Amino acid sequence: MSKIEINNIYKIFGNKPQSVMQMVKDGATKEEVLEKTGHTVGLDNVSLKIEEGETFVCMGLSGSGKSTLIRHLNRLIEPTSGEILVEGTNVMSLNKQELIEFRRHKMSMVFQRFGLFPHKTVIQNVGYGLEMRNITQEERNKIAMEKIEAVGLSGFENQYPNQLSGGMQQRVGLARALATDSDIMLMDEAFSALDPLIRSDMQKQLISLQSELKKTIVFITHDLDESLRLGNHIAILNAGKLVQVGTPVDIVMNPADDYVAAFVKDVNRAKVLKAKVIMTDAKEGQPSGENRLKVHEDEFLEEFLPKIVLNDVVVDVVDSAGHIKGYITNKELQSSLVKS
Ligand SMILES: Nc1ncnc2c1ncn2[C@@H]1O[C@H](COP(=O)(O)OP(=O)(O)OP(=O)(O)O)[C@@H](O)[C@H]1O
Ligand SMILES: [Mg+2]
Repeated sequence: MSKIEINNIYKIFGNKPQSVMQMVKDGATKEEVLEKTGHTVGLDNVSLKIEEGETFVCMGLSGSGKSTLIRHLNRLIEPTSGEILVEGTNVMSLNKQELIEFRRHKMSMVFQRFGLFPHKTVIQNVGYGLEMRNITQEERNKIAMEKIEAVGLSGFENQYPNQLSGGMQQRVGLARALATDSDIMLMDEAFSALDPLIRSDMQKQLISLQSELKKTIVFITHDLDESLRLGNHIAILNAGKLVQVGTPVDIVMNPADDYVAAFVKDVNRAKVLKAKVIMTDAKEGQPSGENRLKVHEDEFLEEFLPKIVLNDVVVDVVDSAGHIKGYITNKELQSSLVKS
């Protein structure tokens, strides 16, 4: 069973969403629907599975439906049609009390526009989810301070949100989500307001946190590099439609259409290709060559490429036990790095 399963979700914004469902199902575009009926298609027949412990990234241009999608998962938005299952439970079947419990314990969310309480201090904001769970103030403050430190905001705990920059407020939102320690984290452009150095730092922190805690993370971003770095799978939305879901390598090497191709056209492929993806299997025979370099199968091409291109080196790709799994020569480099 998948951790999260979305089946055939449609979301139409407007006064009479049901009245335009048939038109959308018959294939009318978002523009046509808006022009003829004044309704906006938020999501158009989206189905997805998200597995436990993975970081699932959702990407797409502004207005493509990313926030709408993520907000269905904790039912901040209700679908016009379709179902959302979390650990097999249909979130639409939860009554009011169950929904409150579900939001408190199952999921935390980092909002695109921070969503902080203006009249609470940083430490109160970060501890808010814990307060809702009736955890004592002392315990709450202890956990909150840990998370404040983790996001690099020590010293600001008694300030109010309007005393902080946008990037700092975003980090408060992140600390708040971390503090609740729920097993699903929804992150809507969680790093987008940060400047590049802090952003890359937060990405690293998230990756290392994730390698220990194995949370299920749904992460929205505009940024291809960020999605390639963080995502186990990446889903790409265009005008409410899901156009591709795949691993970073799938997306970069086999974009499903021109829209996805435009996203990946300038990407540095060496950043997403691991040695094991491009090697020729050891069974095919060992290529000869004096100059050899041993590389772990999970190493990204970017890391060892500079050592091999100039010196015509043959790469021996090994697993963790040191056994040779395959080889990389100029031939493999050509076919993986040169765009067809
Ligand atoms: N409450 C609403 N009422 C009407 N239309 C809405 C509402 N929320 C979203 N929409 C529309 O649904 C579409 C998807 O919006 P959404 O906010 O999900 O986009 P997004 O991909 O998150 O964009 P961004 O990258 O700018 O955050 C847009 O066309 C938007 O105009
Ligand atoms: Mg959004």
